[in-house]
Amino acid sequence: MLRFDILSIFPEMFQSPFDASLIKKALEKGLIEIHLHDIRDYALDKHHVTDDTPYGGGGGMVMKVEPVERALASIIGEKAEAMVILMTPQGEVFNQGVAESLSSCDHIVIVCGHYEGLDERIRQYLIDREISIGDYVLTGGEFAAMVLVDAVSRLVPGVLGNSNSAVFDSFSTGLLEYPQYTRPAEYRGWKVPEVLLSGNHRQIDAWRKKASLKRTRSRRPDLLTKRHLTDDEKKILEELEME
Ligand code: ADE
Repeated sequence: MLRFDILSIFPEMFQSPFDASLIKKALEKGLIEIHLHDIRDYALDKHHVTDDTPYGGGGGMVMKVEPVERALASIIGEKAEAMVILMTPQGEVFNQGVAESLSSCDHIVIVCGHYEGLDERIRQYLIDREISIGDYVLTGGEFAAMVLVDAVSRLVPGVLGNSNSAVFDSFSTGLLEYPQYTRPAEYRGWKVPEVLLSGNHRQIDAWRKKASLKRTRSRRPDLLTKRHLTDDEKKILEELEME
């Protein structure tokens, strides 16, 4: 079982995304747990203030260290096993490999940061890993945390109906997935490739391999340079070069 704790000043943002589809089922089956925490609840002052003006001046507000520290202390206490992640555009860029590495954790605690405003001591003393979901700036870490929870949860055994389906995902093979089709075989004159209707599985596998390489080569050539190519794949790529 994988447990997530999410610290945010907007915990209500997470309710409906986690109340649908596979995440809802995973929660119901007890494969994952998600606990939401309002950072405001850990601010001791009367108005539950979680931010303040920056030392040294300048615009914007800065997220205070004490409420975050208190929230983390109450969630993880002295236990060292939890992986504490800060969602921030300054973090390492999230990808399938990072999702896979996190899916073997038992306990992930996510702090949703806000860009201009975060007391650096949160990073320095309280966080194990900083993660960005891409080179763009969101209003806060909440949507990024949803992306992380979703991508990691679907890798937890039992979450996907068909245990094969994560193995052939785009990216986990290092290639983009081949095109898929379903009935009807023809619609408005738009035809499904003949080979897929042939029942010849050797030919189908070969077609899929080639289609996957072709798609990766045209859309994400960077993935091919990162990947160790088999002799068979090199041959297919040479053929594609000729076409
Ligand atoms: N907070 C704001 N922008 C973000 C991003 N791109 N990734 C993670 N957290 C963020």
